[in-house]
Amino acid sequence: MERTFVELLARKRDGFALETREIARLIEGFSGGELADYQMSALLMAVFFRGMSDEETVALTEAMLHSGKVLDLSSVPGVKVDKHSTGGVGDKISICLAPLVAACGVPVPMVSGRGLGHTGGTLDKLEAIPGFRTDLSTETFARVVKEIGTCMIGQTKDIAPADKRIYALRDVTATVECVPLIVASILSKKLAEGIDGLVLDVKVGRGAFMKNLDRARELATALVRVGTKGGKRVTAVLTRMDTPLGLTIGNANETREALEVLHGKGPADVVECTMVLGAEMLVLGGVAKTEAEARKQLADAITSGRGVALMEKMVAAHGGDPKVVAKPELLSIAPRAVDVPCTQDGFVTAIDALELGLTGVAIGAGRTRADQPVDHGVGIDLRKKPGAAVKAGDVLATVFLRDEHDAAQIAARVAGAFTVGSAAPAEEALVIETIRG
Ligand code: URA
Repeated sequence: MERTFVELLARKRDGFALETREIARLIEGFSGGELADYQMSALLMAVFFRGMSDEETVALTEAMLHSGKVLDLSSVPGVKVDKHSTGGVGDKISICLAPLVAACGVPVPMVSGRGLGHTGGTLDKLEAIPGFRTDLSTETFARVVKEIGTCMIGQTKDIAPADKRIYALRDVTATVECVPLIVASILSKKLAEGIDGLVLDVKVGRGAFMKNLDRARELATALVRVGTKGGKRVTAVLTRMDTPLGLTIGNANETREALEVLHGKGPADVVECTMVLGAEMLVLGGVAKTEAEARKQLADAITSGRGVALMEKMVAAHGGDPKVVAKPELLSIAPRAVDVPCTQDGFVTAIDALELGLTGVAIGAGRTRADQPVDHGVGIDLRKKPGAAVKAGDVLATVFLRDEHDAAQIAARVAGAFTVGSAAPAEEALVIETIRG
């Protein structure tokens, strides 16, 4: 006799593992309306306290994945590899990474997100390019990946719809911070893209979702184990997110910075993050045997101009103006520039990524509700990063605002995110560790 839904909830509540078929029935029941929101909420809380085995998490991921369409990219030759970041401040890496990896022969189908809370989103940044549309159909998505090598769209209603509803319930039932639920949520959406491999950038630190290294490591290892058990090639890289990545926080300014990387420019940390993640993608994609070989291929894609050429084609396929790829300075930035001065001599020892992310939201670069629009032109450009020697009066950052903003208040907030001390801080490597499946 099959157990009823209530019996299944009681079993998870009492600490028993659910069977694959039982988890599939619960998700099917939820999708079909037989399992009510309040019952799913009870299940989520039971999972929060009792956890899930890897087998249960694989089953949950598969069930959520099959609540919608799984894209068939079998007509695209090669090993298809995507990258997912758990979210940070100034994280524009996808925009330069995808064309470079595709230019090296690894197709990159990418379903990206929007900014929410203090973290930005790739779709908002790309939409700073005039005409760029991220709402392409899944058929167009598959065609563009096949013809050009990469395409970046938003989650359509067909992709893991159970995750969308479950995530909304988690948000209001205090069950977001739960490793098996996060793993199933991330992987169900990513696996729906029809990928063979995935590189995860698990951010750690003040500006990240996971503030603490142990928790981030727990999440990263679970993502790799569950993804690998699900038949995919998965690597996770733990990277620091205490300070914003690069020198820009916003949308148009971040896209400009990412496009500069394709021209062989860009801040060292943005370039390094792109190289580290790109190298893992080329190795998973089977076009490079070692990290050193992969880095060389990525560098060649920059110097030869193949990355720029591929990005121009991708932007045009999305309806965007490809001219901004050659001239990123064409992207429109809010005209009211307010410099934030330093008040003492010394060294920048820290820049609070969380506080600058929240300031970005306050000036309109981000959103606090999923249905809010963003202002692509506003943002913060950092002029100094940790380790820089500064004098009183030096400019720490420039904020780009609209007329209605209170410039003095925002400048004070940005200044407060900087810590200036008497000695330079020890340099910290961007990558903390790499976990391979
Ligand atoms: N990102 C997701 O997509 N899901 C989570 O649960 C957490 C972060």
